[in-house]
Amino acid sequence: MDMDGLKRQAAAQALEHVRDGMKLGLGTGSTAKHFVELLGMRVRDGLSVIGVPTSEATRINAERCGIALTTLDEVDRLDLTVDGADEIDPSLNLIKGGGGALLREKIVAAASDRMIVIADDSKWVDVLGRFPLPVEVIPFGLAATRRAIGKAFAQCGDSGQMVLRKGKDGHVFVTDGGHWIVDAHLGRITDAPRLAGLLTSIPGVVEHGLFIGLAGMAVLAGAGGIRVVERR
Ligand code: 5RP
Repeated sequence: MDMDGLKRQAAAQALEHVRDGMKLGLGTGSTAKHFVELLGMRVRDGLSVIGVPTSEATRINAERCGIALTTLDEVDRLDLTVDGADEIDPSLNLIKGGGGALLREKIVAAASDRMIVIADDSKWVDVLGRFPLPVEVIPFGLAATRRAIGKAFAQCGDSGQMVLRKGKDGHVFVTDGGHWIVDAHLGRITDAPRLAGLLTSIPGVVEHGLFIGLAGMAVLAGAGGIRVVERR
């Protein structure tokens, strides 16, 4: 089965955890897109759920699939968020933000009672960091913010090139929130929870792609079938 088929399998498995009446966080990316499409099919068959999308792209897709939407201003907590990831480690800590939606994704995941992460099993790693870590920043004072980010890396014993993300059109990539993203090529993150805390405390950093302690379950689809990992 090709990669896209594996992603759809993981999405289908996560759908088993959805119950009638649930308030759902809807993730962003190619794997989460499968989940939204499969959820839309269940909605057409009579399932009643309401969703909070984590990006404009997901909002448009969810509307196309006939899923009722709301916002975190209108509902208090969500029952479940299903989202993809760029890397997943054995503690179910994640790197997210390859698609640029990390800020809304983290707000929605933090407002959810449960988060299930869905992926093909190439996303499973022993140590986070091979995938460049996205750090969402305010354009004002970018050079100062980059220096502070570099110091945080050094404090954790990490280092690597920081690259301002560009879109397909060659212009600076702008997030749904109007911010920029610096992708940090660290190779290996020595202490992800510590680095997450340090990055969060930097003025100019809006959010970063380390999702620590948010995912409760990972559904990984591979050539040998589906593997479900729960956080201990
Ligand atoms: C978007 C994300 C995505 O979940 C992540 O990039 C995985 O995407 P895909 O399912 O397309 O591999 O964090 O900001």
